[in-house]
Amino acid sequence: RQEKEKQQAIVRPKVKELDGYVGFANLPNQVYRKAVKKGFEFTLMVVGESGLGKSTLINSMFLSDIYNQEQHPGPSFRAKKTVAVETTKVLLRENGVNLTLTIVDTPGFGDAVDNSNCWTPIIDFVESKYEEYLTAESRVHRKAISDSRVHLCLYFIAPSGHGLKQLDIEFMQRLHDKVNVIPVIAKADTLTPEEMQQFKKQVLNEIAQNKIKIYDFPEPLEDEEEAKALRQLRTRVPFAVVGSNTVIEVEGRKVRGRKYPYGVVEVENLDHCDFIALRNMVVRTHLQDLKDVTNNVHYENYRCRKLAGLGNDGKTKLSNKNPLAQMEEEKREHDSKMKKMEAEMEQVFEMKVKEKKQKLKDSELELTRRHEERKKALELQIRELEERRKAFEQEKAEWEQQNNVTLEELRRKSLEANSK
Ligand code: GTP
Repeated sequence: RQEKEKQQAIVRPKVKELDGYVGFANLPNQVYRKAVKKGFEFTLMVVGESGLGKSTLINSMFLSDIYNQEQHPGPSFRAKKTVAVETTKVLLRENGVNLTLTIVDTPGFGDAVDNSNCWTPIIDFVESKYEEYLTAESRVHRKAISDSRVHLCLYFIAPSGHGLKQLDIEFMQRLHDKVNVIPVIAKADTLTPEEMQQFKKQVLNEIAQNKIKIYDFPEPLEDEEEAKALRQLRTRVPFAVVGSNTVIEVEGRKVRGRKYPYGVVEVENLDHCDFIALRNMVVRTHLQDLKDVTNNVHYENYRCRKLAGLGNDGKTKLSNKNPLAQMEEEKREHDSKMKKMEAEMEQVFEMKVKEKKQKLKDSELELTRRHEERKKALELQIRELEERRKAFEQEKAEWEQQNNVTLEELRRKSLEANSK
């Protein structure tokens, strides 16, 4: 019992009220200010067949023209029939808070006649972002890692009224343990409220039957009021959304909506569609949680798979091998690596010897050349001196002849005169 009490004392320290104001109550403000200064990064991926209103919805969500016609041609302009992954980055600012929003679009998804494996480029993209993050984290200098991991994938379901297509199921099954998936029913204005109710039920049933884990909005722990509001919004999953790029006037109010001969569908009206529920939950209440789940669950799963040497499918790359065979294989790999290194070193050594030999040969040639030059110069000098000597001899003979006396006799006479 004593041991238990001791443990409890460690786990739950006594709360002590302070006698005065120290100042650490200001800590949340400091954290808040720091976070606001740094800004936030969020990556949102939209997947769904062409023409389901993905770009219109993104523009409506962030109330800005993230996609315009030039950058993002509609279905009739699309030439590609293979799935591509395109990113658009925008910096949004609201009340001094910066949000770097990256939209990942996947044009061509579900457009082909045979759509098998059309999720592969999308999975590759999601994993490449995890890989980038893992590499940045493993660096010696890991200051300010930019987070370009995909935090949310909005999956657009066609408002067919007939449940999910096989492609929808296959896609969500492959992605649900790699990224947060929220299914949305596109163009909700094409179904009546009763049809929509029925369709949502069917979609949720199929999601459960196929064991698809869509993002589960957690309730806030403290605020009961907020939790109640959230519970209501949560009943609207899968969100039936309407998008519009135009603002129209309804009874003196300016609203984003779609005008039909029989009335106006207001995008931001919860009686008309679930757009506001989706936007509030994604942007206002759960943006940080989406980032946390990406980091703590999906990225962590990826990291574990990667570190354990598993493939994307979760199976060991070296499966069906006993430890001895594996050791043998590792030894073989090691030996071949050593051999390769040895061969490389030998090659380098040979190259260095060759270089050295060439250098020696060059300097020998240089020395010989210089020696020859010096020899020639000396010979020239000797020849010049010889000629000057001859000229002097001749001058001397001519002088002796002119004066009828030799230089020898002259020297002798002067010696005799000196001695006297
Ligand atoms: P891609 O660019 O081919 O990927 O298509 P997309 O999914 O981005 O669709 P886009 O936003 O270009 O919209 C296609 C068409 O649907 C446009 O004519 C839109 O005006 C229209 N549209 C968009 N949202 C809605 C909606 O909620 N209801 C209805 N009825 N039409 C919509």
